[in-house]
Amino acid sequence: MTKILAIETSCDETAVAVVSDEAVYPQSPTNLALSNPSVTVLSNMVASQIDIHRQYGGIVPEMASRQHLEVINHVLDQAIAEAGCGWDDIDAIAATCAPGLVGALLVGLTVAKTLAVVHHKPFLGIHHLEGHIYASYLAHPELRPPFLSLLVSGGHTSLIQVQGCGQYTTLGTTRDDAAGEAFDKVGRLLDLDYPGGPVIDRLAKQGNAQAFPLPEGNISLPGGGFHPYDCSFSGLKTAMLRLIQTLKQDHDELPVPDLAASFQYTVAKALTKRAIACALDHDLGAIAVGGGVAANSGLRTQLQQAAADKGIQVFFPPLKYCTDNAAMIGCAALDHFNQGHDSAFATAARSRMALEGVMELY
Ligand code: KG4
Ligand code: ZN
Repeated sequence: MTKILAIETSCDETAVAVVSDEAVYPQSPTNLALSNPSVTVLSNMVASQIDIHRQYGGIVPEMASRQHLEVINHVLDQAIAEAGCGWDDIDAIAATCAPGLVGALLVGLTVAKTLAVVHHKPFLGIHHLEGHIYASYLAHPELRPPFLSLLVSGGHTSLIQVQGCGQYTTLGTTRDDAAGEAFDKVGRLLDLDYPGGPVIDRLAKQGNAQAFPLPEGNISLPGGGFHPYDCSFSGLKTAMLRLIQTLKQDHDELPVPDLAASFQYTVAKALTKRAIACALDHDLGAIAVGGGVAANSGLRTQLQQAAADKGIQVFFPPLKYCTDNAAMIGCAALDHFNQGHDSAFATAARSRMALEGVMELY
């Protein structure tokens, strides 16, 4: 049995978790997805900074780092207390090291390395997106590679072919804004609370998704045609800005629910079309969705419908594992640790890192 203490501070959540590979699900001998397919989350503490960043309408990196510093010791104590374990029970300590806000990453990474040195434990640096992929395993132990991971968050929009632990191929990405970023920017245009994603989702339920036709954000290829999997959301955001300006000239009040529904429908359509095409072209029978935008009801409805039509399975983790958390980082670390991987203490915090380079961390 292995126990990992994991820390996640790549953006605006200070998160600490303890996970163990003690079986809680019946173990299938054919489950090759994880070397330890039955992961138990012993604790999963998340301190969100959303209330701090809300007043600025977005994340202020300097404030994020300071806030991580303020709360990390408390969150760490809580996670250890809730897991009911002592340092002797912990086999390794992991932290997200890339990609993310460097100042924010540094807080969790430095705490993890320090604890590893003081308590004589191995240390593992974890790629944040690999963590999101492992959130799907956490929620759905029956999921096995190969499958397609659709990661849609405030910082990322990627289609990744998952072949196994540390084996990833990025097949599609956004050329500009991430999907969640687009929701948050349009939320600001509509004067909605930050972050815009959940508010737009709620308002869209009362609106007409066909009220305003909007551009989907296709990427032209030099030889003609469009990239089948890459997307762009900056054109859609500009189209929303122009539409809102025009509507404001003629109306006292904006039709906010119709605008929210039309925007959400267009984003969900763009993501669904690309994910389904990518899965079919690469003969992948399952799509696992991760990141905060996985909570979006429009995306869930469109993707589930389109996947069912094509006989593709779709996995959406519960919300607590969609958004940033340390349990997913611990789950990825457990798998790497059980395969004999650990990281050098010189492992640096990096704002960018391709998922294809994950094995360089060990
Ligand atoms: O994964 P996450 O917690 O943090 C990042 O790593 O970015 O994702 C946060 C993003 C925000 O942009 C937020 O607006 C978006 O996820 N989001 C949603 C919904 N819930 C959260 N977007 C659309 N619909 C939602 N229901
Ligand atoms: Zn994330």
